[in-house]
Amino acid sequence: MEHYSPIASDLTKYLFFTGKGGVGKTLTACATAVALADSGKRVMLVSTDPASNLQDVFGRELTNKGTVIEEVPGLHVANFDPITAAQEYMESVVGPYRGLLPESAIANMEEQLMGSCTVEIASFNEFAGFLTNPEVRTEI
Ligand SMILES: Nc1ncnc2c1ncn2[C@@H]1O[C@H](COP(=O)(O)OP(=O)(O)OP(=O)(O)O)[C@@H](O)[C@H]1O
Ligand SMILES: [Mg+2]
Repeated sequence: MEHYSPIASDLTKYLFFTGKGGVGKTLTACATAVALADSGKRVMLVSTDPASNLQDVFGRELTNKGTVIEEVPGLHVANFDPITAAQEYMESVVGPYRGLLPESAIANMEEQLMGSCTVEIASFNEFAGFLTNPEVRTEI
């Protein structure tokens, strides 16, 4: 069996670690990020997990902006706050209808958007915005 090695692989610029709960996404993503930074690459590690434990891995508070990890030169880590992202996402969907539709219809839309799915979509939406931000793209 071939061992996974991020350094030896011909990687794309953006790597995604997804999968069911507890399969090792966080551990593999962190190990990959550290290995790539140690090899001289500039790396941005971002979690969009509503129950992210990245702060525990790196032992510090993280925000939705990149935090420098001094022990690993070249590595920035960010944790997108899914609740804030979800509120902003919900407002972007419902907001345009305020004042146009009856309050009951607005309340109904809000209720339908109050689920874990919205939280995940919102986090991913923020992540996609981050990737397409020209300033960030030239940084990493
Ligand atoms: N290759 C591995 N060998 C042994 N243990 C591992 C391995 N990868 C992860 N683990 C352990 O499995 C547990 C889950 O790992 P991890 O937190 O990386 O998974 P996850 O997919 O991010 O989980 P979650 O869905 O809860 O975010 C942790 O206790 C971790 O230490
Ligand atoms: Mg995880």
